[in-house]
Amino acid sequence: MSDQYPIEKIRSDFPILGQTNRGKPLAYLDNAASSQKPQRVIDSISKYYESTNSNVHRGVYQLAEEAENHYRMAREYIADWFSVSADELIFTRGTTESLNLVANSFGKTQLGEGDRVIVSEMEHHANIVPWQLVCKTVGAQITVVPVLPDGSLDRQVLSSLLKEPGSRILSLCQVSNTLGTQNPLSEIIQEAKLNDVRIVVDGAQSAPHQRINLRELGCDFFAFSGHKVFGPMGIGVLFGQKELLQEMPPFLGGGDMIDQVSFEGTTFASPPQRFEAGTPNVAGAIGLAEAFRYLSEIDLKLASRHEKQLLALSREGFQGIEGFIEHGTTSGKAALLSFSIDGIHPHDLSTLLDSEGIAIRTGHHCCQPLMQKLGVEATARASFALYNTLEEAERLVSAVRKAVSVLR
Ligand code: ALA
Repeated sequence: MSDQYPIEKIRSDFPILGQTNRGKPLAYLDNAASSQKPQRVIDSISKYYESTNSNVHRGVYQLAEEAENHYRMAREYIADWFSVSADELIFTRGTTESLNLVANSFGKTQLGEGDRVIVSEMEHHANIVPWQLVCKTVGAQITVVPVLPDGSLDRQVLSSLLKEPGSRILSLCQVSNTLGTQNPLSEIIQEAKLNDVRIVVDGAQSAPHQRINLRELGCDFFAFSGHKVFGPMGIGVLFGQKELLQEMPPFLGGGDMIDQVSFEGTTFASPPQRFEAGTPNVAGAIGLAEAFRYLSEIDLKLASRHEKQLLALSREGFQGIEGFIEHGTTSGKAALLSFSIDGIHPHDLSTLLDSEGIAIRTGHHCCQPLMQKLGVEATARASFALYNTLEEAERLVSAVRKAVSVLR
């Protein structure tokens, strides 16, 4: 499969990949944390600052109009990528802000005493803490769907929770950043809808690897970060169904989100402006749209098969390492591998890998409740992207094996 996949061409699009790390060729395997940027994304940001930079929304001079146009076109392009309308797409700083926005605006007004928000044990802190804060304020509670030993969701528990009176919102990741589990969202969304439960999706780990038709998926809200989809840091998106956004109160107040302001009271702009207080990250939006334009030229199905090949090769290579535990073994899991090795601290492992030029992540991956479930404080995690090579996966395997022999 990789024969057909233009890996060399793709790699040449990402300038950083030609660098060394501790004097060795960089093998960047921390893509679940943040992905690298193709030159054209970097150029689009520079070009904006070189020739178009100005504040949007209020200027009547040429530069301001151009900046406004670019910002509007960025929103339209990204909305089109996800098959939704531009006025359903809110620019935020990233997944975390997107989820805080839903929790504080939608959650706070929809939830009351005795209501329930369902999350799962595999959620990132960004999909737990905002709900905890809001539930505490309104007297609602959080109920947690357990994760089974293979890393899949306990669907039986989820089904019964969805039927419980008081269950109002289900907030779930599409792909787990730690286990790689791909949750069967279409089925779950159907089930939630039958029970009149609203669905919020954390798409931070799915958006970089597949084209998602949000209209078909049918969730109520979908959040993702620009920096994981080969776009800039500090920009992200919240999609919300139009009829829900229209009823939602603002999250942050300030300029650009108002209709009329007076000391007697303020009226607000329509979505998405209602949720974009202050000067927006125009360059970020432009860079993000450019990242999706870049992805539109890549066969993402082929890229995904390529990434899965790297995962398979690594899993195979780790076989037989004494005390090796893979966290998350569901079939069809995303191309990331979280693991522990008995008697070896993940940070020590990662330090030795770093000396070989290999960048992986170790820690709790912002999933402390999941770590408790797994009975570990931290894991090592290698996560692949469309530009990683078979050789990098092989280097990962031999570096881990070498580290084990040094550390034991
Ligand atoms: N949430 C990011 C990760 O999984 C930072 O590493």
